[in-house]
Amino acid sequence: MAQLYPFNDPVTVESEPPVRFERGDGIRVSDTQGNTYIDAVSALWCSNLGFSPQRLTRAAAEQMQRLAYYHSFMGRTPSQSDRLADRLVARLPGMARVFYGTSGSEAVETTAKFVRYYWSARGNPGRHRIIAREGAYHGSEQMSAALTGLGYCHDGFNLPLSAVPRAGRPHYLRDAEPGESEAAFSRRRARELDDLIQREDPGTIGAFIGEPAMGAGGVILPPDGYWDAVQDVLSKHGILLIADEIISGFGRTGEWFACETYGIRPHMMTLAKQLTASVFPMSAVAMTAEVYETMKSLAHEKGIFGHGVTYGGHPVGAAVALECLDIYEEMNLPLLVGRLGKEIEKGFEPFRDRPEVLKCRRVGMLAAVEFETEA
Ligand SMILES: Cc1ncc(COP(=O)(O)O)c(C=O)c1O
Repeated sequence: MAQLYPFNDPVTVESEPPVRFERGDGIRVSDTQGNTYIDAVSALWCSNLGFSPQRLTRAAAEQMQRLAYYHSFMGRTPSQSDRLADRLVARLPGMARVFYGTSGSEAVETTAKFVRYYWSARGNPGRHRIIAREGAYHGSEQMSAALTGLGYCHDGFNLPLSAVPRAGRPHYLRDAEPGESEAAFSRRRARELDDLIQREDPGTIGAFIGEPAMGAGGVILPPDGYWDAVQDVLSKHGILLIADEIISGFGRTGEWFACETYGIRPHMMTLAKQLTASVFPMSAVAMTAEVYETMKSLAHEKGIFGHGVTYGGHPVGAAVALECLDIYEEMNLPLLVGRLGKEIEKGFEPFRDRPEVLKCRRVGMLAAVEFETEA
């Protein structure tokens, strides 16, 4: 065993090695012992077209034979990456440009740098800090782990936490005061956000990042009026809003994007996972025309936009993502998710009235049953 496994206790896995998988068939995966499982979380919320999507593997193979790799630096780009960008901006709410990366964490790192670049371009480089929420998951590199609001992602890594003022999570069930309505709880969270911004100095804060509906932190769905109230506070202070749609994007909440489900008008969006149904490691940051034009002005002044990675806009990933978009359009994604979501709702029935169940909740096909626990 030569692997250092992510999100494991290394001592435990030395004596209890991980289950090793080697085959996929639709929603099922089989291990080396011949056991077959249904993976109800679609792996890491990402294999939304299953574990053996033939159309995607064909698209990847064809692209590999045509042009297995090319980059997007210095006046070149694979034609597929450009085609994908056009298709994405036509779908994404209010977005005008996309920038490619290879993982969700990398997309979040990129937005954090774009926030700095944007405010530098506007002559305000001090606005480099980003507000994130308790319980959020935004990835596990440097800034993305700092933005994540789960202590076990911070411990021991000496992350740049001072760059991340922390706001409360929108967890009505756990955090509301007795008798407080959902709308009142949302208004309180917005007031607390306003206080946090004043306390931390608005002149140091460039952006707020949030998952429209929190995933890895426990499927925390925003309470009534939450996003409207938060957006009012952010616009009052001129703070950018980054919607992390890495789990929620591409249909999961019953619209193409969760920003549409919750009336969120972001300045930037992060995408990964469903972008390629995870058949190829690819992510993207999308931005509004205003963010793009602002960054463009500084990049032009400097003579170059000095940011990019070798595998960004990979033609094989782009070909897979284009095929995914075709599949999503053919299946009429929002309609299908709406229908399947109702099936999940029926599946809640046997649990609802059990004493240990606090709440069953769902938006689209993002669902959870919350149990009574000490936490
Ligand atoms: C909302 C959100 N943002 C970012 C990430 C990080 O993505 P990755 O694991 O591809 O780096 C995840 C991963 O689960 C996520 O759920």
